Amino acid sequence: MDSAIPMTQPKTTDSSSARRDTLSVTDNRTGKTYEIPITNDTIRANDLRKIRVDESDFGMMSYDPAFNNTASCISRITFIDGDQGILRYRGYPIEELAEKATYLETAYLLLHGELPTESQLKEWQHHITHHTFIHESIKKFLDGFHYDAHPMGMLISTIAALSTFYPDAKHIFDPESRKKQTYRLIGKMPTIAAFSYRHTLGMPYVYPDNDLSYPGNFLNMLFRTSETRYRPNPTLEKALDILFILHADHEQNCSANTIRGVGSSHVDPFCASAAATAALYGPLHGGANEEALRMLMEIGSVQKVPEFIKRVKAGETRLMGFGHRIYKNYDPRARIIKRIAYEVFDLMGKNPLLEIALECERIALEDDYFVKRKLYPNVDFYTGLIYQSMGFPMTMFPVLFAIPRMSGWVAQWEEMLLDTEQKIARPRQIYLGHDTRSYVPIEQRS
Ligand code: CMC
Repeated sequence: MDSAIPMTQPKTTDSSSARRDTLSVTDNRTGKTYEIPITNDTIRANDLRKIRVDESDFGMMSYDPAFNNTASCISRITFIDGDQGILRYRGYPIEELAEKATYLETAYLLLHGELPTESQLKEWQHHITHHTFIHESIKKFLDGFHYDAHPMGMLISTIAALSTFYPDAKHIFDPESRKKQTYRLIGKMPTIAAFSYRHTLGMPYVYPDNDLSYPGNFLNMLFRTSETRYRPNPTLEKALDILFILHADHEQNCSANTIRGVGSSHVDPFCASAAATAALYGPLHGGANEEALRMLMEIGSVQKVPEFIKRVKAGETRLMGFGHRIYKNYDPRARIIKRIAYEVFDLMGKNPLLEIALECERIALEDDYFVKRKLYPNVDFYTGLIYQSMGFPMTMFPVLFAIPRMSGWVAQWEEMLLDTEQKIARPRQIYLGHDTRSYVPIEQRS
């Protein structure tokens, strides 16, 4: 929609005139003023294209590396108010969901827009549970990885490989096909994750137990040894379920943007979500929980925290698990996680790194460097401590983030596909490279 209208008359600034939802922009190169519509406190970047010096001019663009101030979509899934520390899924506060819902109920909410009725939830759970098994050939595929392969690398590759097992997934505009792939993706994530973990230990894979809950079955596939029936500890099962709820979606973050971008080429959802999982692996995103724990281990003792903070302030390193592009307040997920941490520690014994983490937080929250930049603990600051106490190795931490995030990714992907305004993602660039130059034969190059 190109709706910027060049104005030849100067715009009135009379405060008594009726409010107009437009933005007036004067191009001082030409003296022309343009009136650009404002909808939802936003202007359309395409409306800037009318602003040009002459007919041959391409038109004005906005430059926004890292999408600091660009809305790439209209979404109705997740809401964040970063200044106030608010997170809601489909309107429901994260605190209420963490207290009252289950992860699968939350996943249904994200994907369908409403909480399920009792029968809808039963059916949903049944479908997810009955898609937890993976093809036997996938086991062989996993066997090919090195014993010390990072489980995130195995997860990414295996999700992509699912695309070859389910060629029907390419029918992305068939709602029945989308539904089936959704069951498969959410159902198989814990199985692939657990099998990757068992592979690194050289232990036999444990098949899903369909009588257990989603997190309970995951614990079964990870930790069962010789017992005939694995009974998950209810405190750990509940803690994991809450952690899954907290990680389920987070609006347009790096991996959500990836699944939308890759999915916009109309590739199947397995390939698109493998790409999103790869985005999550990075230490600035879902890999931060692993890095945060490594950092606490590196600090080593409470006495060494001030020295470490000094290095952070000098720009030598970052305080991992701190800071967020959107939250300029305490991450509401971190608050809930801190509470769960104590419940897990009551059962498993206090993680000795907790004191170091608390000291980092105490100093940072009082220090001008962090206060000025509004750097607070994010979701990844305390999760590592819980995961470690639950018996997970550090390399599994980003995997634990990826499992529940699958429901958010699929919801974001489907919303993008059904949005008639969306097209293949294709940003513009400002080209500042060489102008045309002639090829130089190799013997003439200096
Ligand atoms: N430690 C020290 N300084 C920091 C940190 C940190 N963790 N995060 C930001 N800063 C500083 C940064 O150096 C910059 O300072 P200055 O203005 O003097 O250059 C200022 O704060 C703004 O930082 P930025 O890098 O421009 O902020 P961003 O919005 O681009 O980055 C972030 C957000 C999450 C990548 C960043 O805060 C970071 O690297 N944090 C550590 C990694 C981390 O914990 N990531 C998990 C994010 S939450 C989970 C998820 O959803 O992915």
